[in-house]
Amino acid sequence: MNDKELISIAREAQQNAYAVYSQFKVGAALLAADGQVYTGVNVENSSYGLTICAERNAVCNAVACGNRNFDKLAIYSSCSPPAMPCGACRQVLFEFAPSLQIICANDSNEIKRFMLNQLLPDGFKLKDL
Ligand code: THU
Repeated sequence: MNDKELISIAREAQQNAYAVYSQFKVGAALLAADGQVYTGVNVENSSYGLTICAERNAVCNAVACGNRNFDKLAIYSSCSPPAMPCGACRQVLFEFAPSLQIICANDSNEIKRFMLNQLLPDGFKLKDL
């Protein structure tokens, strides 16, 4: 799957974001090593702190489906520059894919590419199981 396709899946997912408090909708599409794609959106809550980001929902979706090997993540937002993954999401992604490729994209066709270990140097991990 090419980056454009992955971004477009993240953009589709963004429409399902439940962002009634912030209006800041985010969609994520996580590409697994076997070619499967798992989506996630941010899901906000009346108790604001319980909000879950799109990226973490995508990881949880994949793991719930039995997949833990990830190659690439597209994050789609509508702001400029495109939204970056928050610190909590970086740590959750690091658990499974320290060298994950991350693509941040938006409505204005701005695309930024990173490696997770660049965004989270020396991430915390208890041990490799
Ligand atoms: N959000 C994400 O879903 N992913 C990010 O990388 C940054 C922030 C969400 C959480 C909240 O619903 C809204 O964006 C505003 O913070």
